Amino acid sequence: MSEVYPIPAETAKSALIDEKTYHEWYDRSIKDPEGFWAEHGKRIDWIKPFTKVKDVSYNGDVHIKWYEDGTLNVAANCLDRHLAKRGDQTAIIWEGDDPSESAHITYRDLHERVCRLANALTDLGVKAGDRITIYLPMIPEAAVAMLASARIGAVHSIVFGGFSPDALAGRIQDCDSSIVITADEGLRGGRKVPLKANVDKALETCWSVKNVVVVKRTGGNVHMVTGRDSWYEDLVAKAAPTHTPVEMSAEAPLFLLYTSGSTGKPKGVLHTSGGYLVYASMTHQYVFDYHDGDIYWCTADVGWVTGHSYIVYGPLANGATTLMFEGIPNYPTVSRFWDVVDKHKVNIFYTAPTAIRSLMREGEEPVKKTSRASLRLLGSVGEPINPEAWTWYHRVVGDGRCPIVDTWWQTETGGILITPLPGATPLKPGSATRPFFGVVPLMVDAEGKELLGATEGNLCIADSWPGQMRTLWGDHERFKQSYFTTYPGRYFTGDGARRDEDGYYWITGRVDDVINVSGHRMGTAEVESALVAHPKVAEAAVVGYPHEIKGQGIYAYVTLIQGEEPTEELRKELVNWVRKEIGPIASPDLIQWSPGLPKTRSGKIMRRILRKIAENDYGALGDTSTLADPTVVDDLVENRMNRV
Ligand code: WTA
Repeated sequence: MSEVYPIPAETAKSALIDEKTYHEWYDRSIKDPEGFWAEHGKRIDWIKPFTKVKDVSYNGDVHIKWYEDGTLNVAANCLDRHLAKRGDQTAIIWEGDDPSESAHITYRDLHERVCRLANALTDLGVKAGDRITIYLPMIPEAAVAMLASARIGAVHSIVFGGFSPDALAGRIQDCDSSIVITADEGLRGGRKVPLKANVDKALETCWSVKNVVVVKRTGGNVHMVTGRDSWYEDLVAKAAPTHTPVEMSAEAPLFLLYTSGSTGKPKGVLHTSGGYLVYASMTHQYVFDYHDGDIYWCTADVGWVTGHSYIVYGPLANGATTLMFEGIPNYPTVSRFWDVVDKHKVNIFYTAPTAIRSLMREGEEPVKKTSRASLRLLGSVGEPINPEAWTWYHRVVGDGRCPIVDTWWQTETGGILITPLPGATPLKPGSATRPFFGVVPLMVDAEGKELLGATEGNLCIADSWPGQMRTLWGDHERFKQSYFTTYPGRYFTGDGARRDEDGYYWITGRVDDVINVSGHRMGTAEVESALVAHPKVAEAAVVGYPHEIKGQGIYAYVTLIQGEEPTEELRKELVNWVRKEIGPIASPDLIQWSPGLPKTRSGKIMRRILRKIAENDYGALGDTSTLADPTVVDDLVENRMNRV
């Protein structure tokens, strides 16, 4: 039995949803989803109201539609509709990498900036349905670019600024973007990131891109290609400050976001407009118990889905004040997060377990010397939070006062699916607790048989919610294959979970070949294909292993081409090679030279064995009798790299 943290009296007094309301709403959302979502669909402004709520099938060709005959504009919902009441309220607090730089942007100001960019993009020939690739650092222009894209009905695809030119090129090519919005350089932890130079490199292999718009962030020297590249500042200065938002269907694509799968190249997860915005805004309001005037800070990068739903779309649709942070937790000091909390009087703070674990290592003093009196609620996302990190977060950061919402969700789900609600859910450290309204988690065994009661198994979701992805860009077949064929008729999450006697969910991590490094998803297949692209590598197999700070580390088994020497230099070269091919987040932590890999007689690599060895759990390798050559295992065990 794990410890239970009851709902604090302070929280209970002011929370939007209490325990009784949670159960009433949840029951209704399951018994009458059409009625429930029709009612909550009204939380956003529709140009033409919807009459149909839901049209979903998880079988056959799989289709997912919500509010399909309604029309709206997502940017108008995030901006225009707030102007009358909160034009002068701060929409975005921007905190720069350097603590001396910050800015407050009101709703009125943000609206004007978005209108100007919408006009500028239109002048460049960008139309509804076109894809816009955004490769920007954490600066307000990133939000402006997203909203301007939404305003003209274009589809944005943000590529995280830490990805390499090759990774960027692959994502541009997959969706045929006609335009890239970037910056001269990014700035993180005092270090410059050559964004424009990366774009130039990427575009050597991308023929679809006609325009590159460049924000001046550092003023660093960059090469501008005549006829292709323009400065953002010049374009918006020339553009008109008002713009009529384009009326879009509820099911019009809003954005694409590439994420790693268990096989092949990254998948372009497609989200549409109406249902996504309803779900992002509703979860933002209730999960974070957002009250008017609260200062809300999500530390994610807009390059990930968390930044989409919980820095930009959810908060702005709710008229919230959202903080956007350019920097990193340990620059200039390890007190930075808490200094920012004090500087801007942050009430709600949402971060990843990996950040908590790395700060935990620095001790309590850097936290305790700050006030943090403004904090009311803490959140966690991206990977399982271990109970030690949870209790440290609660006791040290939150001074034991602030509930923690451990929110489980995925790029594919668009918004949070399993989570506590602060006024409704007693907490257990390490558990994401209970489903949000309308969400029906289902546990199945390997054969797909539903498991009831307290149990452990694979996590599926029985039915749709409005924020769910609709397809994979250009590959509906892969969409069906990836999510709806393992357990037919159900959405398979790829995660394993445990459900306890109180019906609380404990996410145990991925059960497929996706690893979660510092809350970033990485496909083992992607790292493998980067490794084998090196001229000296014959074969590679990549698995995850437990890592104290990152949650999981990347462990690579590499077989070299005949005659190549396994040296320390080569090891370093391979790490750098992967950084260059994908980006620093994909760097292998450990590389083991392996003369052979454990394969079945039909040539299939037995990853189960490789995972065990990487976990240093080589005593429990299980049955190895089906291996073509069982002796390779002895060599791998003997030369294993992880001996903790
Ligand atoms: C993991 C991030 C445990 C999970 C929003 C999921 C979590 C993957 C949690 C999605 C959590 C995310 N507890 N595990 N609270 N949140 N995960 O697409 O394995 O980047 O499948 O979306 O992160 O990662 P993604």
